[in-house]
Amino acid sequence: MSSRLVLGIETSCDETGAAVMDETGLILGESLHSQKEVHMKTGGIIPTVAQRLHRENIGRVVQEAMERSGITQSQLSAVATTVKPGLALSLGIGLDFSLNFVKLHQKPFIPIHHMEAHALTVRMLQPVVFPFLVLLVSGGHSLLALARGIDDFLLLGQTLDEAPGDTMDKVARRLSLIKHPKCSMISGGQAIELLARDGDRLKFLFKPPMGAHYDCNFSFAGLRNQVTMSIQKKEKEEGVEQGTLLSCVNDIAAAMQHTVASHIAKRTHRAILFCKAKGLLPSCNPTLVVSGGVASNQYIRKTLKIVTDTTGLHLLCPPSKFCTDNGVMIAWNGVERLREGKGILSHTEEVNYEPK
Ligand code: KG4
Ligand code: ZN
Repeated sequence: MSSRLVLGIETSCDETGAAVMDETGLILGESLHSQKEVHMKTGGIIPTVAQRLHRENIGRVVQEAMERSGITQSQLSAVATTVKPGLALSLGIGLDFSLNFVKLHQKPFIPIHHMEAHALTVRMLQPVVFPFLVLLVSGGHSLLALARGIDDFLLLGQTLDEAPGDTMDKVARRLSLIKHPKCSMISGGQAIELLARDGDRLKFLFKPPMGAHYDCNFSFAGLRNQVTMSIQKKEKEEGVEQGTLLSCVNDIAAAMQHTVASHIAKRTHRAILFCKAKGLLPSCNPTLVVSGGVASNQYIRKTLKIVTDTTGLHLLCPPSKFCTDNGVMIAWNGVERLREGKGILSHTEEVNYEPK
């Protein structure tokens, strides 16, 4: 086998992922252990629990990815691992494991920025050339950036408080959707999308966030407050206990999803207009790449499509399995860096990272 091979390792949040990839982006072997079910039951991520689960699973996950790839450790050209941003305790497990691994097998180490990896994953699937606009929306992130190169990102806006997936997860918890017959064992965001399909968004009116802020930043905490107040009001009116509202959850979900979608769309529209005005996007085939768990929401995708159609951009949303956290996106970022010879450390170098 002549192509260089990279092992990618991801542990920044609640997924323990590993993948072996060749230089063309071909996935030779992968393995993923999700902690989502555990965290769903406790109503959110407890960092020490996440750390313990990463510790328990990382060895097996990496071994599985290696075995499925059919290659040996000595055939690897490098190990790429997420080093930031993320939960410090979770990141630490992947980093410690990787540093021991590269020392033991004497392989180069490639530190990976989790957000850059999300942004670049699309290039594994199709030849998207720089510069392109990226929107990342998930449970932990919300940002708009111009990708100018594999390690060159111009940040245009980010959330001032929480991420949209987090907001939807919190509202879903407030509504106890985990007990809803249609919504057991799916994420809060998925539950909101599912219920919204049968809801009337006009039954509730939520004020769009940051109406008077003429920038590309996001804010979702105020919306969560409005939604929570509406839920409280309805529970009182109907004389039901907290978390047992049933009558209008579809309408609340639809109205909330609409407000989230239009906020994301407005900020993205502004970012596109800014980039166009400054000549930052190519005239030929300018592209918006959307990634992160929330990007799998069809209503949000459709809303973004309206924005890209009216501004002449090409909208690219990688399939859901490549929008969420896994070892594949980290291995791909490692491949991109290996190809360009950027940010590759020797196994003897000291590595110390701040999680942010
Ligand atoms: O990217 P991801 O798997 O993990 C990180 O947050 O990094 O994203 C998970 C987030 C959760 O907050 C989940 O509720 C949200 O993405 N999500 C959705 C949908 N599917 C997942 N939000 C809205 N609509 C969906 N269909
Ligand atoms: Zn992520």
